[in-house]
Amino acid sequence: MPDSAKPNAAPRGGSRILAIANQKGGVGKTTTAINLATALAATGASVLLIDLDPQGNASTGLGFGRGERQNGTYALLTDGLDLVTVRRATNIPNLWLVPSDPDLAGAEVELVGRDRREFRLRDAVRDHHGSVRPAYILIDCPPSLGLLTLNGLAAADAVLVPLQCEFFALEGISQLMHTIDLVRRGLNPSLRLQGIVLTMYDKRNNLSEQVAADARSFFGSQVYDTVIPRNIRVSEAPSHGKPVLLYDFRSPGAQAYVRLATELLRRERAHPASAA
Ligand SMILES: Nc1ncnc2c1ncn2[C@@H]1O[C@H](COP(=O)(O)OP(=O)(O)OP(=O)(O)O)[C@@H](O)[C@H]1O
Ligand SMILES: [Mg+2]
Repeated sequence: MPDSAKPNAAPRGGSRILAIANQKGGVGKTTTAINLATALAATGASVLLIDLDPQGNASTGLGFGRGERQNGTYALLTDGLDLVTVRRATNIPNLWLVPSDPDLAGAEVELVGRDRREFRLRDAVRDHHGSVRPAYILIDCPPSLGLLTLNGLAAADAVLVPLQCEFFALEGISQLMHTIDLVRRGLNPSLRLQGIVLTMYDKRNNLSEQVAADARSFFGSQVYDTVIPRNIRVSEAPSHGKPVLLYDFRSPGAQAYVRLATELLRRERAHPASAA
């Protein structure tokens, strides 16, 4: 491996970096990123959410429409802009966002010819010695296993995988596990699986129950006890530019994300180095 392709060993200021990834589309990555970030911020921890998806749904869902994003993840990855320059305060105390800027779609192609192309995000978040040292950095990955997601996985300490309770869910996840293995071997040896979160669980649907049972028998305790139910309030919240925790705190979806954050913190404390 040439030197330029090696992970940078510089200290990273104590942030715990979690990538939220699944190459399957529409499984609840962004919803989990927004609401877990909000629930963690509500505990008093400082949280930075990085929107690594050109769709920019995490940015929209936090109230940053297309016109209000300016420099964001693209500038961080390609122009080498500092995290302090591109982060934006949100309406939620302790929660910051690096929005997805409109140019991010071009980054997959543009980065190909760049030096340390898989480590651009890692370098940006880990070499940071400025005043921003969030306790948690959550990275909302796009639904692909391309260069952007590789940047997310190379930058992360651990991966959190939302798994939608539907047919074929487990087939997609084996491809993701294979990719995580490859990333571990080539780009980021310390990458761990933080956990698998079952999303859009519908208790009236036998299939949901079956997928949940299969996931638990295959992945054991790596599957979170907390299950995110299918809940209309969760799907309504982004159009109001709010996390469901703010849109309807009492809804089953919001309460599930509060429990997920509590479980995540418990797991982090139990296994501080490796998690889950
Ligand atoms: N628990 C839930 N209950 C109801 N709807 C949900 C729930 N979680 C997510 N959704 C809805 O499902 C859709 C997909 O969710 P989301 O955008 O979080 O998935 P994603 O994995 O980020 O998608 P993509 O792969 O396109 O980035 C959205 O319309 C979202 O509002
Ligand atoms: Mg998404």
